[in-house]
Amino acid sequence: MIDINEIGATAFVIASIRALEPEKSPQLFNDPYAQWFSNEQARGAARQLEAAFPPSTTMVRFRTRYFNRFIERGIADGARQVVLLGGGFDMHAHIFANPDAAFFEVDQKAVLEFKRAILAEHGIEQAPSLFGNYLEVDVPDGLAGIGFDLNAPTVMVWEGNTMYLPPESIMPFLNRLAGAMSSFRIAFDYFSVDMQDRDFETEEDRVRLEGVERAMGASFPTGFPDLTIFEQEAPFKVAESGSFAGLAEEFGSGDVVAGYPEDWRETLKLYRFCVLERG
Ligand SMILES: C[S@@+](CC[C@H](N)C(=O)[O-])C[C@H]1O[C@@H](n2cnc3c(N)ncnc32)[C@H](O)[C@@H]1O
Repeated sequence: MIDINEIGATAFVIASIRALEPEKSPQLFNDPYAQWFSNEQARGAARQLEAAFPPSTTMVRFRTRYFNRFIERGIADGARQVVLLGGGFDMHAHIFANPDAAFFEVDQKAVLEFKRAILAEHGIEQAPSLFGNYLEVDVPDGLAGIGFDLNAPTVMVWEGNTMYLPPESIMPFLNRLAGAMSSFRIAFDYFSVDMQDRDFETEEDRVRLEGVERAMGASFPTGFPDLTIFEQEAPFKVAESGSFAGLAEEFGSGDVVAGYPEDWRETLKLYRFCVLERG
C-alpha cells in the first residue's frame, strides 16, 4: 500500500497546476505528462491555493518556466548530469532528455514508486532514482551507487522543497553535498522571510503565506531572509537570485503582474529563486 505523506502529496497539487498550462496564454511551458498526476483532491487544493492568494498558481507557472530554463542553460553550459532533488512528479528527465546529460531523481520511496507505476502504464522508464528521505540517506553515495559521477559537472534542481524542510537540516544537508561533489550548481525556490519565527513585515503577508500553507496541506517552517548564510555557513557562492514576479516581463506576462494590486506585488517579493555554485 502506497503511503504518500503530506509533503509527498504536495507533488500532486503542483502537477495539477501544470496540467492546466495548455489553457493559458501565453503558455509558459509544455508538460503533457502533468495530467497523469492530477486528481480531484489535488485540483481542489489548487483552487484553494488560488482563493488564498490569487497569484499563487501563476507563480508556480513562473517557477516551472524558470527551472526549465535553468536545466536547459545548465546543459548548454556543460553540465553532464542533472539531479532532481525532491523532484516529485516533474518530468524534466523526459522533457529535457539529452544524450549529453544523465538525469537522476531523488524523492521519497512512496512518491517515486507511484511515479514509476504511472510511467510504466505509459511504457516510459523512470530515470535512475534514489528512493528515501534525502535528509537521512547519504545522497552523494546513493547517487554514485546508481551511476552518478561525483566529479562530473552537475546541476541540481531543488524545486518546491526548501520551505517544507526543518530549518536546522538545511546547512548540514548542503554541506554534505558540497563535501562529496566537486563542481555543481543547485537552484531552489524559497521564501525570504524567517518562517520559523513568522517574522512577516505586514499582516497581509502573514495571512497570504499562511493561506498558501493551509491550501498545500503542509507547513512551511523554513525561509531565508538573508542568502549570505550559504556563503558563510557552507562553501557556496550565490550565483543568481531574484523574485519570480520579477521575471514577468521576460516571460511575456508583464501585464499580468502589473495588473495586480500594489499590496499583492509586495507580498510576491517574498517568493524567490536562488542558484548556489560550488567549485
Ligand atoms: C511540492 S513537491 C515539488 C515537486 C517537484 N519538485 C515540482 O516542483 O513539481 C515536493 C516534493 O519534494 C519531496 N520531498 C520533500 N522533502 C523531501 C525529503 N526530505 N526527502 C525526499 N523527498 C522530499 C516530496 O516528496 C515531494 O515530492
